[in-house]
Amino acid sequence: MRSLHDYGKGSFVKRKKKVNGMSGIVAGIFLLMLLMACGKTQNRGTENTTGTAVVPEYVFTYAENQAEDYPTTQGGYRFAELVKERTDGKIEILISAGAALGDEISVVEQLRFGGIDFTRASLSSLGDVLPKINMLQLPYLYTGREHMWKVLDGEIGDEFLGELESLDLVALSWYDAGARNFYTSTKPIEKLEDFQGMKIRTQEAELMADMAEALGAEAVPLTYTLVYSALQTGEIDGAENNWPSYESMGHYEVAKYVTVDEHTRVPEVQLISRSTWDQLTPEYQAIIRECAEESALYERELWAEREKTAEQKVRAAGCVVVQLSAEEKQRFRDAVMPLYEKYCSEYMELIEKIIAAGE
Ligand code: GCU
Repeated sequence: MRSLHDYGKGSFVKRKKKVNGMSGIVAGIFLLMLLMACGKTQNRGTENTTGTAVVPEYVFTYAENQAEDYPTTQGGYRFAELVKERTDGKIEILISAGAALGDEISVVEQLRFGGIDFTRASLSSLGDVLPKINMLQLPYLYTGREHMWKVLDGEIGDEFLGELESLDLVALSWYDAGARNFYTSTKPIEKLEDFQGMKIRTQEAELMADMAEALGAEAVPLTYTLVYSALQTGEIDGAENNWPSYESMGHYEVAKYVTVDEHTRVPEVQLISRSTWDQLTPEYQAIIRECAEESALYERELWAEREKTAEQKVRAAGCVVVQLSAEEKQRFRDAVMPLYEKYCSEYMELIEKIIAAGE
């Protein structure tokens, strides 16, 4: 397997990534300047529910790497709205969609140091810094949506939200991101052998790269926003994601073969930086938690809807969908089983509990 580091050696991938990082930084600086300007113009104000002008006590940043109309972004907006309402305009949260504040991994890093206040992140961006969290995103772990929600909404989910404290992050709620499938541009993946010789983009996480390699592909870990052009130029032969991302990012236009194997369900989490959290009174903290949870329920509803419409849209656009037979899917599953040993040996009891919740 090529390590993430290898991709930094002057490859197209890294060059593009740097440009992306720079534009993220420039956008971040611009937003901070804007916020400072807002902070100085104290009387800019906003109106509370009684129509009186209110000056916010706090104006916070919230990073989101999806498009404006995407379910997670809409969940973020709902969260910001609820918080504003319930703090009577004293807390304002500014959502920056479309990865304007940078890619997911650097956003999480900035949150840990207090440079950004909130984000919604895929758990894959946390696995390399908190390996235990990989227990929730192993390939073929959940039998389906209900199984995953039973785990996340129960004691195990709460325990993992608490684990994020060790990264100086406070985890507020779980967001849905459905199941992920492979998609390719040159030829369909119909059986395990078809992965041979294919360069498949994965999320930038050791577990995800290992998964693609275990199936026989060459893993190319790459930032989300660069996948479209990498598919278009042939830098990669395929990628993997859920239906809404495949549709929203336009990947279906450049990789029309989809293999429905639902290899992972990668939960997503809403986070606030510990240093931001510590500035808030217990009352404000309680409001933030309750609004995050409500926004998550809203996001789950939007998600279920968008999963269907995204699939319909890409099918109508001419995507070729391969349904794996039960036997072939079992071969995929068997191929990645060594990863359970590699990533779970310390947490066998926990993983058994997670599996048992789906039986
Ligand atoms: C999903 C997820 C994103 C993530 C992306 C990826 O779309 O919602 O947060 O960045 O997968 O594949 O990187």
